[in-house]
Amino acid sequence: MTSSATPSLSAEMRAFIEALPKTELHLHIEGTLEPELLFALAQRNKVDLPYASVEALRAAYAFTDLQSFLDLYYAGANVLRTEQDFYDMTMAYIDHARADKVRHAEIFFDPQTHTERGIGIDVVFAGIARALREARDQHGFSSAMIMSFLRHLSEEDAFATLDAALPLRDLYKDLWNGIGLDSSERGNPPEKFARVFARCKELGFHLVAHAGEEGPPEYVLSALDVLKVERIDHGVRSEENPALMQRLIKEQMPLTVCPLSNLKLCVVDDMAEHNIARMLRAGLAVTVNSDDPAYFGGYMNANYLAIASSLALTREELLQLARNGINASFLPATDKARLMQEVEEFGSAH
Ligand code: ADE
Ligand code: ZN
Repeated sequence: MTSSATPSLSAEMRAFIEALPKTELHLHIEGTLEPELLFALAQRNKVDLPYASVEALRAAYAFTDLQSFLDLYYAGANVLRTEQDFYDMTMAYIDHARADKVRHAEIFFDPQTHTERGIGIDVVFAGIARALREARDQHGFSSAMIMSFLRHLSEEDAFATLDAALPLRDLYKDLWNGIGLDSSERGNPPEKFARVFARCKELGFHLVAHAGEEGPPEYVLSALDVLKVERIDHGVRSEENPALMQRLIKEQMPLTVCPLSNLKLCVVDDMAEHNIARMLRAGLAVTVNSDDPAYFGGYMNANYLAIASSLALTREELLQLARNGINASFLPATDKARLMQEVEEFGSAH
């Protein structure tokens, strides 16, 4: 995001946002594949691309809805072939996240996007995990992996993916702690995955699901009541159901909101109309996240800057968003307390 896109922010406010310690809880690692790396991997793996240049590819990122994005996102993932490719993509994300003062990231990955193309699920896990471990060891960058099922595919396919992944659980027990649900929401309600989510709950995974991005508030309700999720990814359409809003406030159910994503996918027409500020002020546990930053125009700081300028957020509100992210994470209590202290010290110092 360029400075011209956030004209009304003071230099002090910009500096405050850029230095604020953050957590990222809604990030698709395949959505961090920047056009430059996509082209480099295509060349390395001898994959033909239907675009003449990085600029031509970037120019194609003009979306009308979720599906128009997903079509390009799955096509882009086709350049990922080797463990090194998954490592390089993840390392590039970590560099962006660290520059944006992200202290902890819980990262979605979609194995079915890759196994469908004949890439081994072990290759996907290994590349992502190698980068995350290296960042933890070298920089103290904390992270977790959330394996997500593609909801446009069948529940049987999700079970097969779970079966293929479970033998790897021990190998990645320091990282893989969650299960998610993403891809085309409309027409693929949470109930479709009731049994596989029940199995994942029995296995002790944390559970999350995309709901109420394009789909109706009823999908948020069934993600809560049928899938038993601990966070709702997006959830912005919950506002259409006042009783649901009251429940989300009462239960302090986290919503992982992605402002630039919502703008790019036409979930909102204008950032000034985004409901994240209203929801925050109503007492919902909303958090800020970047979703697919390579496709939507920016990483964490760009998302914070966009809402701060368009919705006139105060420093205290920005601190509350950062606190909400820590509370909503799947970190152990001691790590949450350490991060919370960092945010409070930052707030006092600024
Ligand atoms: N996969 C990647 N980004 C997504 C989004 N915003 N909604 C649903 N599925 C996705
Ligand atoms: Zn998402």
